[in-house]
Amino acid sequence: MDQNHRATLLREHYATLQSFWESVLERTGYCAILLGAGHQRFFFHDDQGPPFRPNPLMVQWLAQEKISENSWFIFSKDTDPILFFHQPDDFWHAATPAPEFLWDHLSLRVFSDLGALHTALQGCLKQCKSGEGKIAQISEDSPAASEGCVINPPAVIHALHFQRACKTEYELTKMRQASIQGARGHRAAQRAFSCGASEFEIHLAYLEAAGMNEWQLPYGNIIAQNHHASLLHYQYQDRQTGEHLNSLLIDAGANVDGYASDITRTYIGPTCYSQAAADLFAELLERMQTHQDALIYQLVPGANYVDLQAAMHQSLARILVDTGIVKCEPEEAFNSDLTVPFCPHGLGHLLGIQVHDVGGQQLDIDGQTNPPPEPYASLRLTRPLAEDMVITVEPGLYFIPMLLEKKRAEGAPIDWRLVELLIPFGGIRIEDNVRLLPKGAGVENLTRDAFANISESATP
Ligand code: GLY
Ligand code: MN
Ligand code: MN
Repeated sequence: MDQNHRATLLREHYATLQSFWESVLERTGYCAILLGAGHQRFFFHDDQGPPFRPNPLMVQWLAQEKISENSWFIFSKDTDPILFFHQPDDFWHAATPAPEFLWDHLSLRVFSDLGALHTALQGCLKQCKSGEGKIAQISEDSPAASEGCVINPPAVIHALHFQRACKTEYELTKMRQASIQGARGHRAAQRAFSCGASEFEIHLAYLEAAGMNEWQLPYGNIIAQNHHASLLHYQYQDRQTGEHLNSLLIDAGANVDGYASDITRTYIGPTCYSQAAADLFAELLERMQTHQDALIYQLVPGANYVDLQAAMHQSLARILVDTGIVKCEPEEAFNSDLTVPFCPHGLGHLLGIQVHDVGGQQLDIDGQTNPPPEPYASLRLTRPLAEDMVITVEPGLYFIPMLLEKKRAEGAPIDWRLVELLIPFGGIRIEDNVRLLPKGAGVENLTRDAFANISESATP
């Protein structure tokens, strides 16, 4: 992206943020919003900790993933936003670069001394209040930065979270790039798997091709071979492969300037334990792909994702009956929730700065929520779909012994011989990241576009 284009996108991004945040001040009566970046945490009795992740609202404003701990940001009505950026003199660690390229959009003040930063911040907050005004402070377990700060007021948080679902063009640009980097990782993973690589080797191939450090990933890579694919968020990576490679489920994303992709693909292995089982799994894979296409086709602004979740289970019922795994009519399988143990997670979620982005169950700006109905308790997205939301569509079909055993005990109409045949494959998930376009214009499938883009640019 050239500098001019980037500047234009940033200007538009800030105009959107600015006008919405001003409307939040208006609605809630606060005179300013103060964001704290947060601070590094350590493990128990240790001087090491997980990688620092700053307040996501600051990521949205600062358009970069590296934000130093103990930095603060003030948004008020009549002045440019002010960033108090902490850059300590530290010979143990490299300094986090300040976002100099944002000079046009905010006042940047860089401090090496934390005490001086706090004094300047207090002075600035006092000016913002000018009398009786109150400041909404959004930060993680910090004391109030100054008198008159109200910590984490729900009215402000609800509004800001609700708004984050719909992306600006600038944010979409970041997410497209995160999709391309993720797609590169997936291609490398697929290649490694077809040559017999272990989960761990696939993980390394993924990181290298995606250009990601492990700490940058939006979530830990899920690289699951054979029966591991039945564990929805399988977190380890075996260094060895077994005698047979039946399947690979890889759920892995990338992160560009704080914005995520979240992509899953499932493949048949090069050395399946049984040809008959491989044929059945291949048929299921193909049908799941068609099933995902049909679900994506139904995405329009105003659609109800809870209905789509039910539609996913209806199609799953048909697939399971057609392939002989479930032995009753599809309607009966659907109505008795027999498909739920075959796919106990939700169809998808909002995506953005966080992989499971905030506000998915929020109905409005005031924070009214819409909890998912039974039996879909894991569904993270229950609010009406809207233009420029980016969501995931990730239907699954798994053979999870601990869930299916309960059905066996209940005498459910399931062909247990076929289930036993399929357990060594674990399961299937196919996950794309999709942007809602205006009614009638279809969708932008960031994931498929990314795979197409890297295929076109690949050297023969
Ligand atoms: N990668 C986690 C999920 O798909 O929700
Ligand atoms: Mn997902
Ligand atoms: Mn995923």
